[in-house]
Amino acid sequence: MARILMCPPDYFGIEYEINPWMDRRKGADRERAMAQWEALYATLTGPVGANVELLDPVQGLPDMVFTANAGLVAGKQFIPSRFRYPVRAGEEPFFRRWFETHGYEVLSLPEGCIFEGAGDALACGATLYAGYHFRSHVSSHRELSRLLGARVLSLELSDPRFYHLDTCFCPLGTDSAIYYPDAFDRYARQVLSDGIRQPVLAPSEDAARFGCNAVVVDRHVVLNAGCTALRNRLQEAGYTVHEVDLSEFLKSGGAAKCLTLRLD
Ligand code: ARG
Repeated sequence: MARILMCPPDYFGIEYEINPWMDRRKGADRERAMAQWEALYATLTGPVGANVELLDPVQGLPDMVFTANAGLVAGKQFIPSRFRYPVRAGEEPFFRRWFETHGYEVLSLPEGCIFEGAGDALACGATLYAGYHFRSHVSSHRELSRLLGARVLSLELSDPRFYHLDTCFCPLGTDSAIYYPDAFDRYARQVLSDGIRQPVLAPSEDAARFGCNAVVVDRHVVLNAGCTALRNRLQEAGYTVHEVDLSEFLKSGGAAKCLTLRLD
């Protein structure tokens, strides 16, 4: 059974602006956000059949709902994030403590080595694809490879709207992934077309609706509502697609995948 970590949006809001989607004047409706988050939780624990564990939210840390950024899980090892912006760095001790008290070996990146966890590092087959530029520093990739003994391929992100790798790339299987090519620089696009033999490309409208920010569990794919072309492509490829309206979280620059962290 897939295990996933989520954090309820009790204190979620748009309190600062650290990516192009965030606009404090627009704000987020907390009640609607709660209902949308609950719908995602119900989809994951219901039809998708995942086991979701919960982390206690903390007042004053509005982005803690995005558990994908807690760090990187590899088996029973956990590498905590070191956030680029101080407004999110306050989350670090809470994430670290959860993993320490849940039986994980916590490995540390060197001080100052900026890395935003599963938001910027996603395994596809035996390869760890790692994004850099807007958030994580490219130097963190060498550290990940050293700590985990894994093959890491660095992908440079080139469109500020897709500032984390998980906003434009989503592994589906060992050599298959959803991705949005225009979010990457030319070399990264080449790396992806060499490594991802069975791509499901997201059209720009669906990428802008965070269609690549999907949760994949076996043949189930959970994504933000309204990504019609991508949904059809996934269904044609044999996936069962579940749509959940996550509009309040898009205002913060996140959707389904960012709200979850795979624990297995
Ligand atoms: N507002 C959050 C930030 O900018 C959104 C994080 C989304 N997380 C992700 N894994 N893409 O940090």
